[in-house]
This record gives sequence, C-alpha cells and structure tokens, in this order.
Amino acid sequence: MGYRGPDFYDDDTVFATYASHRQHTNTPNDTLERPVFLQLIQPIVGKQILDLGCGDATIARELLQNGAARYLGLEGSQKMSALAAQTLANTSGQVINQTIEDWAYPQATFDLVISRLALHYIADFAAVCSNVFRTLTPQGVFVFSVEHPVITSCDRGWKSGTLRQDWLVDDYFTTGLRVTNWLGGTVQKYHRTIEEYFLLLQQAGFVIEQLREAQPQREHFQDQQTYERRKRIPLFLLLAARKPA
Ligand SMILES: C[S@@+](CC[C@H](N)C(=O)[O-])C[C@H]1O[C@@H](n2cnc3c(N)ncnc32)[C@H](O)[C@@H]1O
Repeated sequence: MGYRGPDFYDDDTVFATYASHRQHTNTPNDTLERPVFLQLIQPIVGKQILDLGCGDATIARELLQNGAARYLGLEGSQKMSALAAQTLANTSGQVINQTIEDWAYPQATFDLVISRLALHYIADFAAVCSNVFRTLTPQGVFVFSVEHPVITSCDRGWKSGTLRQDWLVDDYFTTGLRVTNWLGGTVQKYHRTIEEYFLLLQQAGFVIEQLREAQPQREHFQDQQTYERRKRIPLFLLLAARKPA
C-alpha cells in the first residue's frame, strides 16, 4: 500500500537516498523549482513565515538572512525534523514535528505560508486550503510547489533510478491516490488536476495571483543537454494565492 509521506521519509533507505540526492548540484529542484519559487515569495522582509513540510529547512536560513521576521517549519517526519532543528540551530527559526493535516493552525498569524513539494502527499487539499486561509493575515499569501499533474497522473513506463526517456500521461481526470516507487521505497501520493488545485484554492476564498510551470531557463543549467531534456515535460506546478483584505 505504500508509506504515507512523513513515514516514507523516516524509512532509513529513503532518508539516506534523499539526503544524497540533495547533495547533488543541478537537481531539478535547483534548476527549475527554486528560481520560480523564490520569485513568487517576494518580498519577504518583515514577513512571518510558515513552511508546510519543511524537510531539512534549508530555505529558512536564506529567508531569515534576507529579513524574514519569523520562520516556523512544520515537518511530519521525525528524521527530517531533527535535521531541520540542526539547520535552524543558532537562528530564530523553529521547527515543529507535526503533520500538515493535524496541526492546530492559529488564526491570522502568518503573512506568508509556503510549501515546497509536500502537498502532493496530502489527501485532503481542501482542508489544507481552509487551514492556511485561516492562519494567514488579511492580504497574506500562500505560495506552494507540487509535482506537476502530468507527472503525478501516471508512473507507468518509468523505472525508478533510471534516466527517464518517455513520459506517459494517463488517467489524468481520475484524481486521488497513486502508489509509486521512488528513492528505494513505496509512497502514497495524491494526483490532482491543475483545475482542481485552482478551484479548491478559490473555494477556500483565495484570489489566485500566479500559476507557473517552472519553464526551464538556460542560465540555470550547466549544460545544453540537460536544458534540452528539461524542455520536454513540466516537472513542477507552482501557485501563488492571496487572502483578500
Ligand atoms: C520532497 S520533501 C521537500 C522538503 C522541503 N520542503 C524542501 O523543498 O527541501 C517533502 C517533505 O514533506 C514532508 N511531508 C510529507 N507529507 C507530510 C505531512 N502530511 N505532514 C508534514 N510533512 C509532510 C516529508 O516528510 C518531507 O520532508
């Protein structure tokens, strides 16, 4: 049946493989997702920031150094939370070992809620949207990235650990649970269409300001070959939505 997101990252093999992946430079996270994400969260000076599924909280140092007033990460995996606590040592940042689903979100507390590549592990995205809406101050912004729906729709034809050459998009409008092999483990992810992300945000009361697919930009790639490869299919979907005043 596969692990739920936080349990997946607590598996020894998965944790070690993930940590070694993140040591590589030029991962798609670095070359595609990160540059767009950083654009969407500006300005951050003076902001009270909540990060859902913060992982090792690497981004926190950068946010605090660039003027964020507060950083709080929520992280469901014990191993990841422990890493985040190390990252945040000697900073004002904090991490709580708690799931995105179960945390008691305080009312009107954060100006910016961020989440990078964690929300496709959540079954009930509508509940996340309403919790985030409540915890944001008026005019506050919710910015997140997820695996692109063309990727979460179907993983047939891909052997984990190999360089993927073809992508199959199938069962696109059959949303919900997908069990997939990744990083040496089996994990539960949730497929949603782009339209569903959009509608659930609107139904929670958000005004959507940006929708991005992390189109490759040549300056972020060391070699032409990888750049050409990344132009074949979108890997990430990013949305920025505002709580009205
Ligand atoms: C791909 S990692 C991304 C980590 C970090 N946001 C980053 O971009 O470096 C996904 C993270 O989300 C966490 N996660 C997944 N489902 C979660 C849940 N339901 N509650 C809290 N954390 C969760 C995982 O434990 C993992 O650390």
